[in-house]
Amino acid sequence: MTKPADMLRLGVNIDHVATLRNARGGSHPCPVSAALLAQKSGADGITAHLREDRRHIKDDDIVNLKQVLDIPLNFEMAATEEMVSLAERLRPNAACIVPEKRAELTTEGGLAVTGHEARLAPFITRLKAAGVRVSLFVDAIPGELEAAVGLGADIVELHTGAYCDASGAERAAHLTLLRDGAHYADKLGLEVHAGHGLNYENVSDIAAIQQMVELNIGHFLIGAAVFSGLPDALSTMRRLMDDARPEKSA
Ligand code: PXP
Repeated sequence: MTKPADMLRLGVNIDHVATLRNARGGSHPCPVSAALLAQKSGADGITAHLREDRRHIKDDDIVNLKQVLDIPLNFEMAATEEMVSLAERLRPNAACIVPEKRAELTTEGGLAVTGHEARLAPFITRLKAAGVRVSLFVDAIPGELEAAVGLGADIVELHTGAYCDASGAERAAHLTLLRDGAHYADKLGLEVHAGHGLNYENVSDIAAIQQMVELNIGHFLIGAAVFSGLPDALSTMRRLMDDARPEKSA
């Protein structure tokens, strides 16, 4: 499949395949198999977030993803010694540093970079020394983008959650912030990504932002896959059940 040179990259976040697997504590559905299927189906990269509480992706998943994928792995992680050490060993294509609170359902806002440079700088230096591209998941605020440049980040991923949750004039205002943020980040020399909460209804305005290079999408895609995949799964189960039945003699 040939793609235009300026085609936006689609990173598929497979965390919620692991959520489903963990609901039963077994191995099905396997997030690594889902990542391979996403790769076969046109994903440009795979994103996975190893949270401190291991609520979805587990350590083995991350190791296996790195081993089997041909497309880049974007390792989402908190800025902690444990995660940075793992990233140094794993050497994913990129590490996206996200804020992490134990009680949150999902990553609620961008990373606070301004004022936290002294804590973040050694981690970023180590990641870069290991050959890992560094991405910071931030709100589209000029000061945060400048702080990201100051720390030597390669990429900023703009948090689209507030835009996705809003409607009407509020959403338009968030979109303006994202457009301006993408423009400014690009001008500062950062590669611009975006993600969180994107779905069929809200993705187009974000995808249309000229400076955007990659979108990372997870929860909605995995949910949508349930609906598009259910007919096929159901007919396979139907056939297996039917085939197991003794034929009735006429
Ligand atoms: N990008 C980042 C940095 C994230 O933390 C997440 C959520 O894990 C996503 C993208 C994907 O968000 P969603 O699952 O809402 O599509």
